[in-house]
Amino acid sequence: MNSSSAQRVLSGMRPTGQLHLGHLRGVLNNWLRLQHEYPCYFFVADWHALTTEYDNVGIIAPNVWDMLIDWLAVGIHPGEATLFIQSKVPEHAELHLLMSMSTPLSWLERVPTYKDQQQKLQDKDLSTYGFLGYPLLQSADILIYKASLVPVGEDQVPHIEFTRELARRFNHLYGKEPNFEENAKEAIRKLGKKNAKLYKDLRKRYQQQGEEDALSTAQALVDSQQNITLGDKKRLLGYLEGQTKTILPEPEVLLTPTSKMPGLDGQKMSKSYNNTIGLRDSPTTVENKIRTMPTDPARVRRTDVGDPEKCPVWRFHQIYSSDEIKNWVQNGCQTAKIGCLDCKQPVIESILTELSPIRERSQHYLTEPESVRAILTEGCEKARALARETLEEVRQAMGLIYR
Ligand code: TRP
Ligand code: SF4
Repeated sequence: MNSSSAQRVLSGMRPTGQLHLGHLRGVLNNWLRLQHEYPCYFFVADWHALTTEYDNVGIIAPNVWDMLIDWLAVGIHPGEATLFIQSKVPEHAELHLLMSMSTPLSWLERVPTYKDQQQKLQDKDLSTYGFLGYPLLQSADILIYKASLVPVGEDQVPHIEFTRELARRFNHLYGKEPNFEENAKEAIRKLGKKNAKLYKDLRKRYQQQGEEDALSTAQALVDSQQNITLGDKKRLLGYLEGQTKTILPEPEVLLTPTSKMPGLDGQKMSKSYNNTIGLRDSPTTVENKIRTMPTDPARVRRTDVGDPEKCPVWRFHQIYSSDEIKNWVQNGCQTAKIGCLDCKQPVIESILTELSPIRERSQHYLTEPESVRAILTEGCEKARALARETLEEVRQAMGLIYR
């Protein structure tokens, strides 16, 4: 696979500090799976953190380290995935700037997170240039790697849609070569008689009849050609859809299933609700947090019967416990045969078992910060090499080449 046809996965996270079980059972488990399936690029979006924390910058660096250590501790593997920090790849910023020239203000203003977040974070002044540009920066993050798949949660889908629109606009504005049509026709001849005819037929079927199948067959045909240059490949792909070549490909969303991890109080597990179990919580902390979890309020006394459906502990059993234990809970709770502390014990044990290897690995990285730095240096370099390639093409397309 060459660098243009690899199905690259890219995703970023704002540095929120130490991660919790909600992250593990949502985003991180998804990344763990993806890292074996695709070339993955995962980065810490520290500039994105600045869009809301510009007056509180001291927390960013420690949060970045904490988050990276947690990624490594859960098993994101630097041999499988490229890990880096956004601001260490300044190419993101240049692409952001170049695209800002042609990004309509109205597109930014109608991204739903813009007004939503301003509403939600009312104590902050988010009527800033940087905050309005949040989705544009995110688009630059994605497009600079020509990522084809972007794993994100539901809330981020509008940002990916926005990225697709920007890519389309960019290609339309700058994807025109002076002799595009001629060059494309020349490239078709290079396919050989049979394939050239096939290509032209498929193109016609797509352009005149709008047959999507014909488009994908033609794209596969072009992709499978071994004897033409990358430039010709791009021309041929571009010519299928119109007159332009694709400089920045449109990414697709890879929807992350929302984490079903409940918090200690039964609401969604989230730092802002203060109901989390941290990936690095000590066994005593975990035990205390679960022992003090609220239960079905009907069970005031040990002898009062309860209903697991009304109890946040039950939600944990649903995630962590075998059928046998779940039956024991249902029975024991509804007949008051077991006490709530008895009921919580298997949950405590399961979570401690889940967290123990993670805590051990995080200890390793905490005591050897050099190894984290080395992983990052390598990741940043790899990311930069790719980012530079794209930026070179972008500068060229925009006429910013002075030789
Ligand atoms: N905005 C994303 C979030 O809050 C983080 C992010 C920044 C991102 N850049 C990205 C996600 C690029 C995917 C791709 O979750
Ligand atoms: Fe909740 Fe278990 Fe107590 Fe029932 S016995 S109320 S399920 S903790």
